[in-house]
Amino acid sequence: MNVVVVNNFDRMSEEAAKLMVAQIRSKPNSVLGLATGSTPLGVYRLLAEYHQRGVDFSSVTTFNLDEYVGLAPAHPQSYRHYMEENLFSKVNVRKENTHVPSGTAPDLQAECERYEQAIRQVGGIDLQLLGIGSNAHIGFNEPGTPFGSTTQVVDLTESTIKDNARFFASPDEVPTQAVSMGIKSIMRAKNIVLIAYGGSKAEAIYAALRGPVTPKVPASVLQLHPSVTFVVDQAAGSKL
Ligand code: PGA
Repeated sequence: MNVVVVNNFDRMSEEAAKLMVAQIRSKPNSVLGLATGSTPLGVYRLLAEYHQRGVDFSSVTTFNLDEYVGLAPAHPQSYRHYMEENLFSKVNVRKENTHVPSGTAPDLQAECERYEQAIRQVGGIDLQLLGIGSNAHIGFNEPGTPFGSTTQVVDLTESTIKDNARFFASPDEVPTQAVSMGIKSIMRAKNIVLIAYGGSKAEAIYAALRGPVTPKVPASVLQLHPSVTFVVDQAAGSKL
């Protein structure tokens, strides 16, 4: 695994954006796996700038990691809405090539199967961007999620609900379930870039990189992947 420790959030964003742009330049019809949350915001801002300077997203396909159960695409806290706001509306990706699981499908199980099938149909993900939870979750795969899991409906842990409450008016409004790509879906990506910043992620980064590979630490599974780069700022890397 490559581990790159940089000074701050902006440098982390630059490193990750550069890797994503290199992927698009080497394969214009790349399939990108995308993440939400606070961590990728700088990456998406830079990708929008790269687009203004000529990077072409017209043949790119994207798959997001997850979506909250019960939030419609137009809901301001839905991940579809986040992606439209922060990236899709700022680059020339084709709307029909952007995929976010539906959290409001009448049959969520069928939606999970459809999502896996859609990823398979385009030949899999070339580069998956990941954040990490303070509990070391990747996607919404909380501690204990089997490594063999594919896209599924998951229950969010109390700690994740607490972490994400900052985006909602109150913790009671945070959905308690999500549709999330599984650990196996993530591990099938050809390349993975995990980004993290801030001291609240230091323990998770240490456990993921230096601890035993165990479902108790979902991100530790990445030690088994052949092409992973961790890009972390000094605070997130402070325990390494
Ligand atoms: P954050 O979330 O970027 O908002 O910290 C990361 C995650 O939960 O994967």
